[in-house]
Amino acid sequence: VKIFRVLLFFLCIQSGLVHHAVHFLTGAKVHRHAIESQLVKTLHDLFDNNRRWAARRTEQDPKYFERLSSLQTPKYLWIGCSDSRVPANEITGTQPGEVFVHRNIANMVVHTDMSMLSVLDYAVNVLEVRHVIVCGHYGCGGIQAAMSNNSFGIIDNWLRHIKDVYRKHYNVLEDIKDENSRWKKLVELNVREQVLNLCKTSIVQNAWQQGNFLQVHGWVYDIHDGVLNDLEVTFESNEGLSSLYKFDTL
Ligand code: CO
Repeated sequence: VKIFRVLLFFLCIQSGLVHHAVHFLTGAKVHRHAIESQLVKTLHDLFDNNRRWAARRTEQDPKYFERLSSLQTPKYLWIGCSDSRVPANEITGTQPGEVFVHRNIANMVVHTDMSMLSVLDYAVNVLEVRHVIVCGHYGCGGIQAAMSNNSFGIIDNWLRHIKDVYRKHYNVLEDIKDENSRWKKLVELNVREQVLNLCKTSIVQNAWQQGNFLQVHGWVYDIHDGVLNDLEVTFESNEGLSSLYKFDTL
Protein backbone atom coordinates (compact mmCIF):
# COMPACT_ATOMS: atom_id res chain seq x y z
CA VAL A 1 0.00 0.00 0.00
CA LYS A 2 2.85 2.37 0.90
CA ILE A 3 4.56 1.86 -2.44
CA PHE A 4 1.24 2.48 -4.17
CA ARG A 5 0.81 5.77 -2.28
CA VAL A 6 4.32 6.96 -3.11
CA LEU A 7 3.68 6.08 -6.75
CA LEU A 8 0.49 8.10 -6.75
CA PHE A 9 2.35 10.92 -4.99
CA PHE A 10 4.84 11.23 -7.84
CA LEU A 11 2.13 10.84 -10.41
CA CYS A 12 0.24 13.74 -8.88
CA ILE A 13 3.36 15.89 -8.54
CA GLN A 14 4.08 15.32 -12.21
CA SER A 15 0.60 16.32 -13.25
CA GLY A 16 0.64 19.38 -10.97
CA LEU A 17 -1.91 18.06 -8.47
CA VAL A 18 0.18 18.98 -5.42
CA HIS A 19 -2.86 19.14 -3.16
CA HIS A 20 -3.81 15.55 -4.00
CA ALA A 21 -0.20 14.41 -3.86
CA VAL A 22 0.14 15.41 -0.21
CA HIS A 23 -3.07 13.58 0.59
CA PHE A 24 -1.90 10.39 -1.04
CA LEU A 25 1.38 10.54 0.84
CA THR A 26 -0.22 11.16 4.23
CA GLY A 27 -3.25 9.01 3.60
CA ALA A 28 -5.54 11.86 4.68
CA LYS A 29 -8.97 11.89 3.13
CA VAL A 30 -9.69 14.46 0.43
CA HIS A 31 -12.89 15.25 2.24
CA ARG A 32 -12.92 19.03 2.22
CA HIS A 33 -11.85 19.16 -1.39
CA ALA A 34 -14.63 16.74 -2.35
CA ILE A 35 -17.23 18.85 -0.53
CA GLU A 36 -15.98 22.01 -2.21
CA SER A 37 -16.11 20.58 -5.71
CA GLN A 38 -19.59 19.27 -5.00
CA LEU A 39 -20.66 22.76 -3.93
CA VAL A 40 -19.20 24.32 -7.07
CA LYS A 41 -21.12 21.80 -9.14
CA THR A 42 -24.32 22.71 -7.33
CA LEU A 43 -23.80 26.42 -7.96
CA HIS A 44 -23.21 25.64 -11.63
CA ASP A 45 -26.51 23.81 -11.61
CA LEU A 46 -28.27 26.92 -10.33
CA PHE A 47 -27.01 28.93 -13.28
CA ASP A 48 -27.90 26.13 -15.71
CA ASN A 49 -31.39 25.98 -14.25
CA ASN A 50 -31.69 29.74 -14.49
CA ARG A 51 -30.72 29.85 -18.17
CA ARG A 52 -33.21 27.10 -18.99
CA TRP A 53 -35.96 28.86 -16.99
CA ALA A 54 -35.33 32.24 -18.65
CA ALA A 55 -35.32 30.63 -22.10
CA ARG A 56 -38.55 28.76 -21.39
CA ARG A 57 -40.28 31.92 -20.17
CA THR A 58 -39.26 33.88 -23.26
CA GLU A 59 -40.33 31.00 -25.48
CA GLN A 60 -43.80 30.92 -23.91
CA ASP A 61 -44.18 34.69 -23.90
CA PRO A 62 -41.59 36.78 -25.83
CA LYS A 63 -42.63 39.99 -24.02
CA TYR A 64 -42.54 38.42 -20.54
CA PHE A 65 -39.39 40.07 -19.16
CA GLU A 66 -39.99 43.32 -21.04
CA ARG A 67 -43.38 43.65 -19.34
CA LEU A 68 -42.21 42.52 -15.91
CA SER A 69 -39.15 44.78 -15.85
CA SER A 70 -41.17 47.90 -16.57
CA LEU A 71 -43.76 47.43 -13.83
CA GLN A 72 -44.68 45.41 -10.75
CA THR A 73 -48.22 45.52 -9.41
CA PRO A 74 -48.45 42.95 -6.61
CA LYS A 75 -51.69 42.89 -4.63
CA TYR A 76 -50.16 41.01 -1.73
CA LEU A 77 -47.45 41.57 0.82
CA TRP A 78 -46.23 38.31 2.30
CA ILE A 79 -44.43 38.32 5.63
CA GLY A 80 -43.13 34.80 6.12
CA CYS A 81 -40.44 32.72 7.75
CA SER A 82 -36.96 32.44 6.18
CA ASP A 83 -37.33 28.64 6.33
CA SER A 84 -36.37 27.23 2.91
CA ARG A 85 -39.39 24.91 2.98
CA VAL A 86 -41.88 27.79 2.86
CA PRO A 87 -41.39 29.56 -0.50
CA ALA A 88 -44.18 32.15 -0.86
CA ASN A 89 -44.63 31.97 -4.66
CA GLU A 90 -44.42 28.23 -4.96
CA ILE A 91 -46.96 27.30 -2.28
CA THR A 92 -49.48 29.91 -3.45
CA GLY A 93 -49.05 29.19 -7.16
CA THR A 94 -48.21 32.82 -7.85
CA GLN A 95 -45.83 34.22 -10.45
CA PRO A 96 -43.01 36.77 -10.24
CA GLY A 97 -44.65 40.19 -9.91
CA GLU A 98 -47.63 39.00 -7.89
CA VAL A 99 -46.35 38.90 -4.31
CA PHE A 100 -44.13 41.40 -2.50
CA VAL A 101 -42.14 39.40 0.03
CA HIS A 102 -40.45 39.99 3.37
CA ARG A 103 -39.01 37.04 5.26
CA ASN A 104 -37.22 36.67 8.55
CA ILE A 105 -36.81 34.03 11.24
CA ALA A 106 -40.29 33.08 12.54
CA ASN A 107 -42.16 35.70 10.44
CA MET A 108 -41.89 38.46 13.02
CA VAL A 109 -43.27 42.00 12.85
CA VAL A 110 -40.98 43.86 15.22
CA HIS A 111 -42.05 47.50 15.32
CA THR A 112 -38.50 48.86 15.48
CA ASP A 113 -37.30 46.73 12.56
CA MET A 114 -36.46 49.27 9.85
CA SER A 115 -36.26 46.59 7.19
CA MET A 116 -39.80 45.37 7.89
CA LEU A 117 -41.16 48.94 8.23
CA SER A 118 -39.60 49.98 4.93
CA VAL A 119 -41.08 46.97 3.14
CA LEU A 120 -44.48 47.60 4.72
CA ASP A 121 -44.45 51.30 3.90
CA TYR A 122 -43.44 50.70 0.30
CA ALA A 123 -45.99 47.91 -0.14
CA VAL A 124 -48.89 49.88 1.37
CA ASN A 125 -48.16 53.40 0.15
CA VAL A 126 -46.40 52.92 -3.18
CA LEU A 127 -47.49 49.53 -4.49
CA GLU A 128 -50.88 49.88 -2.78
CA VAL A 129 -51.25 46.21 -1.92
CA ARG A 130 -54.72 45.15 -0.76
CA HIS A 131 -53.68 42.34 1.54
CA VAL A 132 -50.86 41.87 4.01
CA ILE A 133 -50.37 38.26 5.00
CA VAL A 134 -48.40 37.01 7.97
CA CYS A 135 -47.68 33.37 7.28
CA GLY A 136 -46.30 31.15 10.02
CA HIS A 137 -45.63 27.45 9.67
CA TYR A 138 -45.82 24.32 11.79
CA GLY A 139 -42.40 22.85 12.44
CA CYS A 140 -40.87 26.33 12.77
CA GLY A 141 -37.37 26.02 14.25
CA GLY A 142 -37.42 29.62 15.46
CA ILE A 143 -40.54 29.00 17.53
CA GLN A 144 -39.10 25.76 18.89
CA ALA A 145 -35.86 27.48 19.85
CA ALA A 146 -37.79 30.21 21.68
CA MET A 147 -39.63 27.52 23.69
CA SER A 148 -36.38 26.01 24.89
CA ASN A 149 -33.93 27.22 27.51
CA ASN A 150 -30.94 26.90 25.21
CA SER A 151 -28.84 29.87 24.19
CA PHE A 152 -28.12 30.12 20.45
CA GLY A 153 -25.99 33.26 20.39
CA ILE A 154 -27.03 36.52 18.81
CA ILE A 155 -30.33 35.05 17.62
CA ASP A 156 -31.46 34.93 21.29
CA ASN A 157 -32.28 38.62 20.97
CA TRP A 158 -34.59 37.96 18.05
CA LEU A 159 -36.20 34.96 19.74
CA ARG A 160 -36.92 37.14 22.78
CA HIS A 161 -39.89 38.56 20.86
CA ILE A 162 -41.34 35.06 20.64
CA LYS A 163 -40.73 34.44 24.34
CA ASP A 164 -42.75 37.62 24.97
CA VAL A 165 -45.63 36.10 22.98
CA TYR A 166 -45.32 32.97 25.13
CA ARG A 167 -45.44 35.08 28.28
CA LYS A 168 -48.60 36.82 27.05
CA HIS A 169 -50.34 33.47 26.55
CA TYR A 170 -48.52 31.65 29.33
CA ASN A 171 -51.53 29.93 30.95
CA VAL A 172 -53.03 28.73 27.67
CA LEU A 173 -49.70 27.29 26.55
CA GLU A 174 -48.72 25.73 29.86
CA ASP A 175 -52.07 23.90 29.96
CA ILE A 176 -51.07 22.00 26.82
CA LYS A 177 -49.04 19.05 28.07
CA ASP A 178 -48.11 17.53 24.72
CA GLU A 179 -45.02 19.37 23.55
CA ASN A 180 -45.81 19.11 19.84
CA SER A 181 -49.31 20.52 20.37
CA ARG A 182 -47.88 23.34 22.45
CA TRP A 183 -45.37 24.12 19.67
CA LYS A 184 -48.19 24.26 17.11
CA LYS A 185 -50.27 26.50 19.37
CA LEU A 186 -47.38 28.93 19.80
CA VAL A 187 -46.92 29.03 16.01
CA GLU A 188 -50.57 30.09 15.71
CA LEU A 189 -50.52 32.54 18.62
CA ASN A 190 -47.35 34.09 17.24
CA VAL A 191 -48.98 34.68 13.84
CA ARG A 192 -51.95 36.34 15.54
CA GLU A 193 -49.61 38.55 17.58
CA GLN A 194 -47.73 39.63 14.46
CA VAL A 195 -51.03 40.48 12.74
CA LEU A 196 -51.79 42.73 15.72
CA ASN A 197 -48.31 44.23 15.52
CA LEU A 198 -49.02 45.19 11.90
CA CYS A 199 -52.35 46.77 12.85
CA LYS A 200 -50.62 48.82 15.54
CA THR A 201 -48.26 50.48 13.05
CA SER A 202 -49.01 54.02 11.89
CA ILE A 203 -48.52 52.77 8.32
CA VAL A 204 -51.52 50.40 8.45
CA GLN A 205 -53.68 52.69 10.58
CA ASN A 206 -52.95 55.59 8.27
CA ALA A 207 -54.16 53.58 5.27
CA TRP A 208 -57.39 52.77 7.11
CA GLN A 209 -57.87 56.40 8.16
CA GLN A 210 -57.59 57.44 4.52
CA GLY A 211 -60.38 55.00 3.73
CA ASN A 212 -58.17 52.61 1.74
CA PHE A 213 -59.06 48.95 1.50
CA LEU A 214 -56.39 46.99 3.35
CA GLN A 215 -56.77 43.63 5.00
CA VAL A 216 -54.25 42.06 7.37
CA HIS A 217 -54.40 38.27 7.52
CA GLY A 218 -52.86 35.50 9.61
CA TRP A 219 -52.17 32.19 7.91
CA VAL A 220 -50.33 29.04 8.85
CA TYR A 221 -48.64 26.59 6.52
CA ASP A 222 -48.10 22.94 7.35
CA ILE A 223 -44.72 21.68 6.11
CA HIS A 224 -45.95 18.10 6.69
CA ASP A 225 -48.67 18.16 4.02
CA GLY A 226 -48.14 21.44 2.14
CA VAL A 227 -51.52 22.85 3.14
CA LEU A 228 -52.09 26.52 3.89
CA ASN A 229 -54.76 27.50 6.44
CA ASP A 230 -56.41 30.81 7.25
CA LEU A 231 -56.37 31.41 11.02
CA GLU A 232 -59.29 33.83 10.54
CA VAL A 233 -57.73 36.70 12.41
CA THR A 234 -58.28 39.19 9.58
CA PHE A 235 -58.37 42.91 10.37
CA GLU A 236 -59.61 45.61 7.99
CA SER A 237 -59.92 48.49 10.46
CA ASN A 238 -58.54 49.38 13.87
CA GLU A 239 -61.81 48.31 15.50
CA GLY A 240 -61.01 45.49 17.86
CA LEU A 241 -57.56 46.89 18.50
CA SER A 242 -56.83 47.77 22.13
CA SER A 243 -57.54 51.51 22.55
CA LEU A 244 -54.01 52.01 23.81
CA TYR A 245 -52.69 51.44 20.30
CA LYS A 246 -55.29 53.38 18.32
CA PHE A 247 -54.27 56.61 16.63
CA ASP A 248 -57.06 59.22 16.46
CA THR A 249 -55.32 61.38 13.91
CA LEU A 250 -52.27 60.76 11.84
CO1 CO B 1 -39.81 28.98 10.61
